[in-house]
Amino acid sequence: MKNLKILYKLLIQWKWKFLISSMLLVCGMFFRTLEPLIIQVLVDNLLPMLNGTYEASSAKVGFFTKTILSILPAVSKEYPLYVYFLALGAIYFAISFTKGTIMFIAKAINASATESAINSLRNNIFSHIQKLPMQYFSDAKTGELTQRATGDIDTVRNFISNQTVEIIRLSAVFLFSFFMIYAENKTFAMISICLVPITAIAAFYFFKKEKKIWQLHEDESDKLNNLTQESLGGIRVIKAFANEEVEIEKFEKQNKAKLDIALIHARLHTVYWPLSDMIVNAQVFLSVLFGAWFALNGEISIGQLMAFYTYVAMVAFPLRQVSRLLSQMGMALVAVGRIQEVLDAEEEDLSGKNFNGKLKGKIEFRNVSYQYKGAKEFALKNVSFTIQAGENVALIGPLGSGKSSLMKLLLRFYEPTQGEIFIDDEPIKIMSKKDLRSKIGVVLQKAFLFSDTIGNNISYINSEKINILETATMAGLTDVDGTFVKGFDTMVGEKGVSLSGGQKQRIALARTLLSDPEVLVLDDVTSAVDTITEKEILNNLKKVASTRTTINITHRMSSLIFAHKVMIIEEGKLTGFGTEKDLEKTNAFFKQVLAIQKNASLN
Ligand SMILES: Nc1ncnc2c1ncn2[C@@H]1O[C@H](COP(=O)(O)OP(=O)(O)OP(=O)(O)O)[C@@H](O)[C@H]1O
Ligand SMILES: [Mg+2]
Repeated sequence: MKNLKILYKLLIQWKWKFLISSMLLVCGMFFRTLEPLIIQVLVDNLLPMLNGTYEASSAKVGFFTKTILSILPAVSKEYPLYVYFLALGAIYFAISFTKGTIMFIAKAINASATESAINSLRNNIFSHIQKLPMQYFSDAKTGELTQRATGDIDTVRNFISNQTVEIIRLSAVFLFSFFMIYAENKTFAMISICLVPITAIAAFYFFKKEKKIWQLHEDESDKLNNLTQESLGGIRVIKAFANEEVEIEKFEKQNKAKLDIALIHARLHTVYWPLSDMIVNAQVFLSVLFGAWFALNGEISIGQLMAFYTYVAMVAFPLRQVSRLLSQMGMALVAVGRIQEVLDAEEEDLSGKNFNGKLKGKIEFRNVSYQYKGAKEFALKNVSFTIQAGENVALIGPLGSGKSSLMKLLLRFYEPTQGEIFIDDEPIKIMSKKDLRSKIGVVLQKAFLFSDTIGNNISYINSEKINILETATMAGLTDVDGTFVKGFDTMVGEKGVSLSGGQKQRIALARTLLSDPEVLVLDDVTSAVDTITEKEILNNLKKVASTRTTINITHRMSSLIFAHKVMIIEEGKLTGFGTEKDLEKTNAFFKQVLAIQKNASLN
């Protein structure tokens, strides 16, 4: 019921189009149900002519039959057979043509409304996903989200464009056919629908079961999608470890789990469909039996019997389709629910106070602790420090000690569990995330490039800036034109050339430098480049850093060349913060790293 409401809300914006197309559909179906009356009139007029009696049938007829008869000439010798044929043919053509035209317009309006609704839903879900907080992406899997933003939307689209039309069409056919029989003969009309309650009860139970099983099926599909996505993403690792067989086995296992549910689903259909067919056929059989009985007793004419047979089939046909429609509706409602689950996730609030003009760049952490959701330990423990405006700080520490986490808190990807962070003495928790993130330039530890040209990857934020070459050189990308045939127009990513880790890192660095941020945070940006390139980059960075606050997260002591101060984090705790000289004396970790790296350079 809740999902139906969601579907309703989705469509309400195009309510006029849907309403008009539905009304036209109903209209079209009305004309469709007039067609059998032509056969009825033809037979009832033809039979007396063949008998040579020219006496019209005395059976009672309904309003619409009367109308058709009133247009036609009365049965008599003066009117030869072909006159009836021609007149009836003309009426039949007029009815069919009107029906066809109305249906065409109805379907065109419906298709346009459906496409607009789905288009808007697709836009909504994509922009919503874009605005979800970082935490959401730690919890949800990409494959699952992709499935919801594509496959599930297609299921809903299919339902709205095909099945809603069918529901309206079939309901109209059912009601009008029943009404037509009712207008001619009330008793026969009741007989023609006497088994409908049984069909309805069976359909209700089928629908409930269908929804439940389909939900399970989609859950298994999600798992399969995630698995596929992950193994494609990690194909290099799989190949490097020659672990294809294990991956195939994992896939087959999950595919089997999906198959098991699909089989239960198929079994439900194999039981229900023949059952529903049986009831419908029994209904038609009963109607034919009683129809023949009525005709023998002279209560209905032969023409009426023929028309009734068509009507009974028209009443029965929608009943047979109910199961198919309900099955599609079950699937669509499950899809709507799954889409809504994503839409229900709260968007990240980017609003808040803006910083006054340019950042000076004073950064203060006051007793900041942070624990990731589901993590046993705190990633940061009671961290306090102040970086003065314009200061360049190198942040070092063992693997997994909390360096990247500190940066993520600064950008408000996550909020501190305890404590508070200030920039220029403003508590960042009340500041606008949009403003904050536009002022702090960050190069993330894992460089990510879009499937685009090198140039466009660099000018990702500042497309109008033209000093790409200059910035690229500053980031150590000195010979793009020499290395790649197409220079900055070289495509990278899935459909382009593969880049080395160092090349990716430098493109990512150039991207951030081009945006000329007011505070610069670098997370291990030289980890994948050689010592000569590193030196070049660091010299350039020194210039950039001289005019702004910089935090440089690094494992290499060579990066300290432009650091005013060094900050050391071990196991989430700040164990040192001071000049290189001070720490050399006081901090054991720093001393150890210096010694190791000095030794390495001597060897
Ligand atoms: N999204 C997350 N969910 C749960 N735990 C996390 C998450 N990200 C990091 N952690 C954990 O927090 C701790 C600190 O991680 P962090 O990435 O900050 O380390 P780091 O100092 O940057 O390490 P490295 O030098 O390897 O980059 C680690 O124990 C890590 O496992
Ligand atoms: Mg890190």
